[in-house]
Amino acid sequence: MKKIDSHILVIFGASGDLTQRKLIPAIFNLFCRGFLPRHFAVLGCSRTSFSDDDFRNKVVYNNEHLKQKKTTSEEEMKRFADQIYYQPVDSSVSNDFEKLKNRLEALDGSWSTRGRYIFYLSTPPSIYEVIPEQLYKYGLTKENDGSWKRLIIEKPFGNSLSSAKALNLELLRYLKEDQIYRIDHYLGKETVQNLLVTRFANSIFEPLWNRNYVHHVEITSAEDVGVEKRGGYYEHSGALRDMVQNHLLQLLAVVAMEPPVQASAKDIRNEKLKLFQSIRPFSHEDIRENVIRGQYMASKIKGKEVKGYREEHGVNPDSRTETYVAMKLFIDNWRWAGVPFYVRTGKRMPTKVTEVVIHFKSTPHHLFAGSNQMHTDNILVIRIQPNEGILLKFGMKVPGEGFNVSRVNMDFLYEDLANAYIPDAYERLLLDCMQGDPTLYARGDSAEATWAIVDPILEAWKEDKEIKMYGYPAGTWGPENADILIGEGKSWRYPCKNLVDDGLYCEL
Ligand code: BG6
Repeated sequence: MKKIDSHILVIFGASGDLTQRKLIPAIFNLFCRGFLPRHFAVLGCSRTSFSDDDFRNKVVYNNEHLKQKKTTSEEEMKRFADQIYYQPVDSSVSNDFEKLKNRLEALDGSWSTRGRYIFYLSTPPSIYEVIPEQLYKYGLTKENDGSWKRLIIEKPFGNSLSSAKALNLELLRYLKEDQIYRIDHYLGKETVQNLLVTRFANSIFEPLWNRNYVHHVEITSAEDVGVEKRGGYYEHSGALRDMVQNHLLQLLAVVAMEPPVQASAKDIRNEKLKLFQSIRPFSHEDIRENVIRGQYMASKIKGKEVKGYREEHGVNPDSRTETYVAMKLFIDNWRWAGVPFYVRTGKRMPTKVTEVVIHFKSTPHHLFAGSNQMHTDNILVIRIQPNEGILLKFGMKVPGEGFNVSRVNMDFLYEDLANAYIPDAYERLLLDCMQGDPTLYARGDSAEATWAIVDPILEAWKEDKEIKMYGYPAGTWGPENADILIGEGKSWRYPCKNLVDDGLYCEL
């Protein structure tokens, strides 16, 4: 592991949910695992006026997400809390940044952090440009004599191609590209990283990983929850912006990219960019035929009434925002020519699961014709979450007379590994940024490239009133029409059944 320099982590939006739910627990785990440098402090910033102690109580002592972690001694907990500080900052008040600068200089002196700062933007995106500008104005983005400065920026990174380009341009006025870390927590998932290892550290998969052997690829990310308290945000986002433009396209890139020359940030990110650029642009016709959108409707799951999306708090009762999207896309390159990739995501599905499923082609000749060999095509399931692992399905002879073939499973589960500690995505990503390793962060050009893929779909949905929005009952796998996408008598893999049998699908 690379050495981590002493530094201060400044979190903007520190009174928000992410800090409490993800960031502080991740930092705490790094602390408990001995990864943090001895000279290290966290400075929370937001508009709320907290004292250091108020903030420590909120994010450490009374943080239920921390208590769930392994117990540590009281001294350790106090030692951790004592490294956390708070500074009120209203981003619309320039003077607050001067106070921030003074505070940072004081902490820098007491913690010997030598002007090294990570700024984490966990704020509403409307101030993503304001904060870097103010930091720049007060000299807080300037690097000299080993005093590095890094900026982590949460999603959404823009809400269209043009806004993402504008944001990139704006950020580059105040920082260099190698100072900017665009976080996508899917890339921090252990199982997503393992995809690289599965592909490129084994000789048995990669020779098959192409159009000669792969029939099609499915990527599913389903959630059983609805939009919860985030209706206001989600109304302007929808599943395509919330999940596909970032998480699922990044995952697709890891599944489909070419082997990088080296396992370096530059080489891996170059290959991912090439992959995004090889995705066939969606024509209007493709969008009508190959992209399905849906919205969950009220239903009754196990006797319990579940709200429809339009009844959720903060949601327009006539909303046309999609909570489900499924699409068929092609990658126009040598490796994948003609192989369809199916990507789907949705809220209020029967279960929470993210998985990549590689469907291999049938054998060229059905030797055991008359048996059910047709239904035994090989499938490799890479389970990103939960039950993290890899499952290979292959045909085996049914013991006894004849040559009957049935499909069996070869299953690897992470939890079976001795000492399998799976760090949370934020833990891994924060650690990488502290080490100055951007491999698992999205580069500016790839953020633009992924927007270029989804932009035409957003446009078409806005303009073409004939493109249908399907309602699906909460607790089901989404619009039935999504199966038509796959065709050839094949369907999506359904890891479990619908929770609602009598729901009707309809057009909204
Ligand atoms: C977030 C989305 O980025 O990812 C959420 O905004 C979604 O809507 C979440 O629920 C899913 O992440 P995970 O790690 O739970 O699959």
